[in-house]
Amino acid sequence: MELRVPRLISSVATETLAEALCEYGAVIVEEMLGADLLARFNAELDPLLAKVSPDRAYLNPAIDYFYGKRVRQITGVAAKSRIFAEEILCNPFYAAACDRILGPSCSGYQLNVAQVMDRGPGAEQQPLHRDEDVWVHLPRPHPEVQLASVIALVDFRAELGATLVAPGSHLWERERKARPEELVAAEMPAGSAVVYLGSTLHAGGRNTTSDEWRRAMHMSFVVGWLRTEENNTLSVPPDIAAGLPRRSQELLGYAVHDAISHGGGYLGAVDLLDPVELLAAGKL
Ligand SMILES: [Fe+2]
Repeated sequence: MELRVPRLISSVATETLAEALCEYGAVIVEEMLGADLLARFNAELDPLLAKVSPDRAYLNPAIDYFYGKRVRQITGVAAKSRIFAEEILCNPFYAAACDRILGPSCSGYQLNVAQVMDRGPGAEQQPLHRDEDVWVHLPRPHPEVQLASVIALVDFRAELGATLVAPGSHLWERERKARPEELVAAEMPAGSAVVYLGSTLHAGGRNTTSDEWRRAMHMSFVVGWLRTEENNTLSVPPDIAAGLPRRSQELLGYAVHDAISHGGGYLGAVDLLDPVELLAAGKL
């Protein structure tokens, strides 16, 4: 395997994408967001980000350390951005990729977390990590349970802190550390995304510029039977979710995970019914 992150375009055949992801653990997908969508989304984010301070408290000191004090975050994005909830969350590229990568291990997948991460000048490199380690109790080996991505909302350059990826690390022994020369910066034009498996080592890069922000959208999906990192049905409560398309509601966790046809059961019911149906009936 060459030390690189393969480059594809979002209309790529799903099988080609899957082969590249299985070999390298990460791919750069160009043209994920078209120029018009990118411009509209950035315009929607501008006033939201202007209200965010990078100096904020997180839920514990480990998360404080991970994010630092130079990052502006917008969480619960589907509740704040109609463009995200309709056009980005339901992007057909992710649907095809999740069907292929997560589909065999679940009856349905869901949004794990979506957050805007605007990494400012002086933001340090994140510790290298695997996103799936939030589910540390999941026995290994296991099939891929998470498909993650960082969508570049500005041009990603190495000095701006483009995501660093260790290609092939999804296949490494868990204890193996990446050497600096084994990392590749996911440099890419705005509107592209680096898409990676939950088992791939990566980190947000160091922003060494003096005055530029690295605006990005982190979005990841997970099998429907694992607890999500962001509590999406509280971040996007029923009164807001009711106004979103049904597919968005399902991806936000309002649909039950129904494994009855696989010989399993169902998860996430309310009053023994499917919340997405209750939402449609105005009963949530
Ligand atoms: Fe990460």
